[in-house]
Amino acid sequence: MKRLFLGVDVSTTGAKALLIDEAGKVVATATTPLTLQTPKPLWSEQDPQEWWSGTAASIRKALSDAGANGEDVAAVGLTGQMHGLVLLDGDRNVLRPAILWNDQRTGAECEEIERRVGRSELIREVGNVALTGFTAPKILWVRNNEPDVYTKAKLVLLPKDYVRLRLTGEAAMDRAGGSGTILFELKARNWSKAVLDKLDIPAEWLPPTFEGPEVTGKITAEAAAETGLSEGTPVMAGGGDQAAGAVGTGAVRPGVVSLTLGTSGVIFATTDAPLVEPEGRLHAFCHAVPGKWHFMGVTLSAAGSLQWYHDALTPNEGFDAIVTEAEGAPAGSEGLLFLPYLSGERTPYPDPHARGSFVGLTVRHGRAHMTRSVLEGVAFSMKDCFGLLQGAGLGTVSEVRIAGGGAKGALWRKIVASVLGLPMVTVTSTEGAAYGAALLGGVGAGAWPSVEAACDATIAVTGRDEPVAEWVKAYDDLYPRYRELYPALKPTFDSL
Ligand code: XUL
Repeated sequence: MKRLFLGVDVSTTGAKALLIDEAGKVVATATTPLTLQTPKPLWSEQDPQEWWSGTAASIRKALSDAGANGEDVAAVGLTGQMHGLVLLDGDRNVLRPAILWNDQRTGAECEEIERRVGRSELIREVGNVALTGFTAPKILWVRNNEPDVYTKAKLVLLPKDYVRLRLTGEAAMDRAGGSGTILFELKARNWSKAVLDKLDIPAEWLPPTFEGPEVTGKITAEAAAETGLSEGTPVMAGGGDQAAGAVGTGAVRPGVVSLTLGTSGVIFATTDAPLVEPEGRLHAFCHAVPGKWHFMGVTLSAAGSLQWYHDALTPNEGFDAIVTEAEGAPAGSEGLLFLPYLSGERTPYPDPHARGSFVGLTVRHGRAHMTRSVLEGVAFSMKDCFGLLQGAGLGTVSEVRIAGGGAKGALWRKIVASVLGLPMVTVTSTEGAAYGAALLGGVGAGAWPSVEAACDATIAVTGRDEPVAEWVKAYDDLYPRYRELYPALKPTFDSL
């Protein structure tokens, strides 16, 4: 019997199944695309049933592509988009479409949370301020706007935990995901009675929580029939996509920071203690590594900025072509600055009204300058996040592991290295959160003694991009100009 580990990632765009073997080698991967509903401006919803049918289809396909059957799979680890609200009734029926992490409808509820709990108390207890993306304001929104739905509610789950319910029949959640609800006491790694009481949310609606490699249930006969997995296969807690993604790149110890240039850009740093940024400007959540926490800074539009720029201005060119062209522009793009706040921002400015901007255009600037300044603006925003990490007592950073679609090109890696003044290290594993989830399943099944050991055994460094000395100088000169722009433009953003 082979021993394979299955990672399942319920992301916003697709339900992915990834099989690895005991050496950490990827054996098969399959993804079923998911649809997103935006019934009103700023709303973002998905149908949980689609997560389940997509997951089941992807698992069947991955097993078949690997030439494996259910008995070959020793364990399943789950990951997925964080913060989404799935509300269920007492019979575990879904009460309304899930409200997702990127939904912006809950501004009034965020204010309500900070009023009821107190901003500094919230930062102290749950490690974060109330942001529209998080789960708690979504629960309040349903109470304030859909009372008929709210009165039927009996259970709150996150997207991947709805899939867990369908796989195992158990309501359970990982602690990284739990902390992303902001109803979680960071230090205790469990639900915060104080915050639940102040928000008047029944504690019994929240499921038990587990560390990443812990078993949360077993595949039911019904789920076995739909997925091809064997009844009784253990399903481990796994982790929210950022925490599982960090496991997938080996960012599991303090000092090893991961930087992901996906649609959003994320800087993720492991901590041994439940540290918080005093003003709540960084997210502070539990890690998927047992007994560890992490800080996170999020630039909402990272590779998303390049995607927008490409789609809006150069739709007939390939990405590689426009990025290669950008190599022709000098570091600093001859004084052209780009603010990447195309979908508002989270870090360092938690501001849904912030806007993207080019500042400093002259007739001398061409397309190469504009593309390069987009790459540089995103890098400056990552530097903003990095500065907050250092201010929050992170200690020495020995290594930055860079990942995500935007990190595939050497130019962007070198720009980020030069803006941060640190080498960017690339690693063997490029499958992100699904890979981390599979490792967490493997640790729970005893294939490795710890998450750290699993990462050491399976993930190797493949490359290193050093800062370019002349670029470092140009960026050090330009960064203060970049920092001046948001405060100067904020009144304009607000009035737009
Ligand atoms: C993390 C976050 C996103 C979502 C969607 O705070 O909002 O990473 O999990 O991927």
